[in-house]
Formats: sequence, C-alpha cells, structure tokens
Amino acid sequence: MQKRITKAVFPVAGLGRRFLPLTKASPKEMLPIVDKPLIQYAVEEAAVAGITEMIFITGRTKRSIEDHFDRDLELEHELAEQGKRELLESVRSILPRNCHCIYIRQPEALGLGHAVLCAQPVVRDQPFAVLLADDLIDASPPTMARMTSRFEAEGCSLLGVEDVPREQTGSYGIVSAADAKADVTQIHAILEKPAPENAPSTLAVVGRYVLTPAIFDLLAAAKPGRGGEIQLTDAISALLARERVLAMRIGGKRYDCGSKLGYLKATVELGLRHPEVGREFAEFVVKRGR
Ligand code: UTP
Repeated sequence: MQKRITKAVFPVAGLGRRFLPLTKASPKEMLPIVDKPLIQYAVEEAAVAGITEMIFITGRTKRSIEDHFDRDLELEHELAEQGKRELLESVRSILPRNCHCIYIRQPEALGLGHAVLCAQPVVRDQPFAVLLADDLIDASPPTMARMTSRFEAEGCSLLGVEDVPREQTGSYGIVSAADAKADVTQIHAILEKPAPENAPSTLAVVGRYVLTPAIFDLLAAAKPGRGGEIQLTDAISALLARERVLAMRIGGKRYDCGSKLGYLKATVELGLRHPEVGREFAEFVVKRGR
C-alpha cells in the first residue's frame, strides 16, 4: 500500500438541518469565515499536507462549491485590467497550485459513511484523507499535515480526536483508547453518540481522518445504523477487528461550524485576527462589551 496520502475526500452532501433555513438552497460549506468559505479552509489544510487530488462528494444545492474552485476568467481579466493585483491573486489561488478537483454526486443523503463510500471509484486501493469542512481547525502545524506524516510512519488508519465535556458525548463518535491522555494512542473500540453514562471516555472523533482502503468493503457491507444512515463509525468499528487504528489529538482549536454557536465563535475569533479588518473589529467588540 502506498504510504503517501495524495487524495482527500470532502463529504459536502449533508442536508445541514442545523443551519436551516440558510441550507435550503445553499451549502453550509460555503458559509464565510470573514472572506473565505469553510470549504476553502479545509482544502488549504489538505494542500499543506501535500494532498493534490481533492474529491468532493456533493449533492443537490452544492453547485456553488464547484463554481468556487473553478477559474473565472472574466473576473480575473477585469481585476487585471483594474490593476487589483491582491484581489486577483486571492481569486487565482483559491485552488492551491498543483491541485485538482473531482466531483462525485451522492444521489441521496444516506449518511457520512455512504458519502465516503461514493469516493471508492476514484480512491480505489489507496489510503486517503477525509476532511469535514464544518469542523474548522485552527492549529499550527495544521492537523492534517501531522496526520499524514504520522501515517507515513505507522501505515494504519488515524482518527482526529479531542476531549469533549462528558455531557456532550451524545453528539460524537467516542473512542476507548489504550492511553486517553497520550497525543497518539491505539483505539480499542468506538461508539456512535453514546449517552454520557455509557461513554467509555470523553475522547471524541472530529472531522479529520486518514483511512486505509479496507474501509470501503466494510462501508459497502454496513447496514443503516443510527438515524437510518450508513455510519462511518460503524465501519471503523469493524475495521478495528482487522487493523490497528490510532487516535491522534488534533492540537489547536476546533470550531464546530455546523452549529450556529460554533460558527459565530469562529467568525469572531478569526475576524479579530484578520489582517485587514481585525483591529477595527476588535475596537467594535470592546465597545459592544461595555
Ligand atoms: P453532519 O452530521 O454534520 O450532517 O454531517 P449534516 O447533514 O451536514 O448537518 P445537520 O446535522 O443536518 O445539521 C457530517 C458531514 O458529512 C457530510 C456533511 O456534509 C458533513 O460534512 N454528509 C453527511 C454527507 O456528505 N452526506 C450525508 O449523507 C451525510
């Protein structure tokens, strides 16, 4: 099996119910954090990890994602004519250099596991990354780069994890691990959304994965689980019986931008650091807080 990860899967076909009515006709992955959509942060994180093939699993209402990563020659021409070099560069570099995009349609939102399975014809027998754009991770070094380089050393699947408050275990896949305090540790078991009293730990799986291709057969065999969806967690649970799987702490700070509150927090914190508007925004926030 190849040791370098060159392919990333971005499942963006979810219904985004927590963000209705916005998500009725627009993808939540196009929500802006100041001036860049969430999906662009995720693609940039993958590119920093050396990934060059960006595979989007899309659905209805997701056309704007394809348009975002496509060239817009008319716009580029206009910005060049007007001498707006910085803007021109920001538009031209939306898709990082040497990267290309592949779009696969998930015909029905049958769950995250099913969305990942849709990537099989392109990923085939190679290991690959999965990034959920609504988990925005602000980390240095970036999380996916740490995960892919660890994969090169270990050659086994890795799940990005972080500690969550025990009362929130019901919102996450929770792992039972050899050493829950370690930065990287072997996973013994994984449970989908356990109630706090049943959770084996508070180590929650978040939206970053490096997976071996063995996951595909397990996804294809998976029965609909919680909520009638094909759960990635169930297939990972089956994978544990066959292969070693590691949990790796994501480092840095994660914003759950699939929830309104997480999205607002990310907007404020990244807004405060934005090179163009950060200072004035900070003054505004301080005034409002008085
Ligand atoms: P979520 O669990 O956040 O579901 O999916 P959702 O539909 O996006 O949002 P809510 O819960 O209804 O508000 C996790 C990730 O998996 C993708 C989503 O786009 C998101 O990135 N997904 C989920 C798919 O691509 N297809 C699916 O069938 C389900």
